Amino acid sequence: MTYRELLNKYKSIAEEKDLEVEAIKLLILELSNYDGASFLAHFDDEIENDKLNVLLTAISKYVNDFIPVQHILGYSYFYGYKLKVSKDVLVPRCETEELVSYVLEYYDEIFKGKSVEVCDIGTGSGAISIALSKEEPKMNVTATDISKEALEIAKLNAKNNRASIKFLEGDLLEPLITNNLKFDILVSNPPYIALGDEVDPLVVKNEPHLALFAENNGMECYEKILKDASKVLNKTNIILFEHGYKQKELMINLVDKYFPNSECEVIKDLSGNDRITVIINK
Ligand SMILES: C[S@@+](CC[C@H](N)C(=O)[O-])C[C@H]1O[C@@H](n2cnc3c(N)ncnc32)[C@H](O)[C@@H]1O
Repeated sequence: MTYRELLNKYKSIAEEKDLEVEAIKLLILELSNYDGASFLAHFDDEIENDKLNVLLTAISKYVNDFIPVQHILGYSYFYGYKLKVSKDVLVPRCETEELVSYVLEYYDEIFKGKSVEVCDIGTGSGAISIALSKEEPKMNVTATDISKEALEIAKLNAKNNRASIKFLEGDLLEPLITNNLKFDILVSNPPYIALGDEVDPLVVKNEPHLALFAENNGMECYEKILKDASKVLNKTNIILFEHGYKQKELMINLVDKYFPNSECEVIKDLSGNDRITVIINK
């Protein structure tokens, strides 16, 4: 069987099962050990038996067991950086890449050219912290998570990407308060799915529940962070949250409660859903 035949066969199966055709392409490309350009040159080569077995096993996990591609490969790409993922961390999402872009944009607006202290609350795989510290060397990033296992993965990802990040374990802002640390930018994509909300069963099956669900209509972490934020923020600061598309009003209520004098903006993601809230205190 050639790569072309393999791709065509499983493309159809993926379509029939309403799965992503791109996922099949990605599995074949990543596991063929060719880079993008040379892969095309070998598209009509017969696949060696050993390699074919590896590919068929991986594809079967996707089309028959519905395991996400990133978990099959053991890694994902975020903002161009390769990150190890496991059952202990959320696979970083493209909406979170948008969050990173906005952190960089608002940094330019408020702090351009200055060294700033940034904290990333609930870092998971380290995605946000790594992307920020690589993209803007003036950002000194501290990342926290309550999950020891997630922090192990995040530390490894930081090392593999040569990103210099300080990691602290603990509940939301608690390790920052304990260490008397102060920040100019606070960014967080905490768990925000309300208990009882309908969620894709594959997400529930494959992603850590600690990364997904939160009490109080999914708003628990935002409220706890905003309640304590002034203890860890310098006078001029920016807070940026990723949140659920139905949480705009709840978020605005929290901002009114804890930062009534701030400038606040809710931004839609590329799919047109309310997704990011930016709170600026000057
Ligand atoms: C939605 S995931 C986001 C992970 C990563 N920041 C990203 O955007 O891909 C939320 C993360 O928050 C962590 N978390 C959940 N509750 C927490 C808490 N009380 N304190 C600190 N981290 C928490 C989870 O372990 C998980 O890694």
